[in-house]
Formats: sequence, C-alpha cells, structure tokens
Amino acid sequence: MKKTGLFYGTTGGRTRKVAELIKKEFGSSAIEIFNIKDVEPSDILKFDNLIFGTSAWGIGDMQDDWEIFIDELVELDLSEKKIAIYGLGDQKGYPGSFADGLGTLYCRLADKDKIVGYWPKEGYKYYFSSAEKDGRFVGLVIDEDSQHELTAARIKKWVAVLKKEFK
Ligand SMILES: Cc1cc2nc3c(=O)[nH]c(=O)nc-3n(C[C@H](O)[C@H](O)[C@H](O)COP(=O)(O)O)c2cc1C
Repeated sequence: MKKTGLFYGTTGGRTRKVAELIKKEFGSSAIEIFNIKDVEPSDILKFDNLIFGTSAWGIGDMQDDWEIFIDELVELDLSEKKIAIYGLGDQKGYPGSFADGLGTLYCRLADKDKIVGYWPKEGYKYYFSSAEKDGRFVGLVIDEDSQHELTAARIKKWVAVLKKEFK
C-alpha cells in the first residue's frame, strides 16, 4: 500500500482517539497520524493517500485548528492524491448541524473527484447535516457523544473500504 497520512484537529481529544483507532485498524506501519496544529500544510505532500478528520463546533463550523489550516491547505495541489475524510459530531445535542465540520471540510476541498470513503446515513438521527450530500455522508461520521458503542464497528467497516481504495 502507498503511504497514508492522517491529519486531525481536535479540541476535546475525541477526534484524536478516532485517529488512533483508524491507525490501529490499518495496521500501524501503513499509516502515520498528525495533529494539524503541529504540522505545516506542506507536510501533507509527503503522502500519497490522505485522511482528514475534524469535529463540529456549531452551524458550519470545523474544529478551530482546521479553520486556520484549511486556508493554506487549499493552496496545495492535491490532484494526485486520494483523500478520505471523517467527522465527529453529536446528533442528540446538535441535530440541526450534525457533523457540520465534515460538511465544511468537504466544501473547501478542491478535488472532489479524489474523495473516497463516502458513508451511508442510515443509523443516525438528526434533521440537518451539511455533511449529507446526495443521500449519503461525504465521509465517515462518528458520534462519540451518543453512539459510542457503534464507533469500533464503523471504523472497521470504513477502513476496509479505504484499504481497497488506497492501493
Ligand atoms: C460548544 C460545542 C458546540 C458543538 N457544536 C456541534 C455541532 O454543531 N454539531 C455537532 O454535530 N456536534 C457539535 N458539538 C459536539 C462535538 O463535535 C463532539 O463532542 C466531538 O466529539 C468533539 O470532538 P473533539 O473532542 O475531537 O473536539 C459541539 C460541542 C460543543 C462543546
């Protein structure tokens, strides 16, 4: 498999925890993980496959470090990369902006045709999410606040898809 880099932004640590679980599921040597507050956007260019993760912080809001990082990231040429994205949210607490950070991250990425790892919306209860496009989510959605018990199985299934996409 080609080199995969996972870049996450977190405030409370949950998006990092999910990054670590994704790494474990890939097999540790196949993937490196980074907190975006500790890297330069250009560090992303060292990898063939990319995973970006953010939590949600209000209507349309990504995690704070992503709000800063994204403006530089969009200047990079990622047209030769494969990209998968994941987002954390709380469908019970924020059913009107569920996982909106993921939706905004998707909107800001230029090469939508390079994005893999779309995810079914079944199994979640909310009334609006900007991460939903054409009847599915634009990436893996994890809800550690109200569906913690489903996290491990969701990651396992998503990583199995990415392993095929990230050849
Ligand atoms: C002030 C605040 C605002 C939030 N806004 C949203 C939101 O709009 N949509 C959502 O799905 N989750 C929202 N959340 C929930 C977080 O995204 C969720 O707890 C996530 O797991 C946090 O990830 P982190 O620990 O990596 O920062 C909010 C949480 C807080 C404390």
